[in-house]
Amino acid sequence: MNVMNIMLFGAPGAGKGTQAKFIIDKYGIPQISTGDMLRAAISEGTEMGMEAKKFMDEGKLVPDSTIIGIIKDRLSQEDCKKGFILDGFPRTLAQAEALEVLLKELNMNLDKVISLNVPDSLIVGRVVGRRVCPNCGASFHIENNPPKVEGKCDYCGSDLIIRKDDNKDTVEKRLSAYHEQTAPLFNFYSERGVMVELDGTKEINEIAKEIFNILG
Ligand code: AP5
Repeated sequence: MNVMNIMLFGAPGAGKGTQAKFIIDKYGIPQISTGDMLRAAISEGTEMGMEAKKFMDEGKLVPDSTIIGIIKDRLSQEDCKKGFILDGFPRTLAQAEALEVLLKELNMNLDKVISLNVPDSLIVGRVVGRRVCPNCGASFHIENNPPKVEGKCDYCGSDLIIRKDDNKDTVEKRLSAYHEQTAPLFNFYSERGVMVELDGTKEINEIAKEIFNILG
């Protein structure tokens, strides 16, 4: 594959961000994480960020119109011509349909949707033990995937933080939103023949190897 347009699909904490980092390192294509983009807008204090924050803090999805707008701007940028990794988008049928229209306008295709399958019973522990880098977006886990130096990002050395929505109550709400609004997209992409399922409970490097085999 010359140009690789990939989507990582899965519940909160399934390992999308973790695997995106491996793909970036190997293939040099940008990660488009709507979650990271929204968090950046919150740190910058933009009006859009402040509005999105209300939904994110409650574990709810941000309105489609906001998300579709930011994706439209991002996918139109020059660096996406060599490929991209969608992480956390689309999350509703309206977003998936808008993405199809946008890709057509940009003369692009979606090559693969990689679903990381992880049972709900593992998700809360993963998310509550997560530590993230506010600078480069890398994520670690205090037990499953600790950073080389405690509290510091392996990639850029910044101090790691705990995301505001990474607490048990909010994760349970995010999981409900996932099952109600996002999980149905599994069939949407299966019908289009681009869906590949992986066991997201395997060891992190093992999953990365399986993804590289799929991408070639
Ligand atoms: P977002 O930032 O997208 O969060 P999410 O989808 O909930 O996903 P996470 O970042 O929690 O998980 P991940 O799959 O990346 O897992 P990770 O690799 O870090 O969205 C946040 C919020 O923004 C949403 O709730 C919503 O409000 C809003 N939003 C964003 N996009 C939106 C959209 N399109 N529409 C509407 N609203 C939107 O891994 C998790 C942990 O597990 C880490 O600690 C990691 O080290 C560990 N881990 C990873 N893989 C493994 C493994 N194989 N074994 C053991 N541990 C592992």
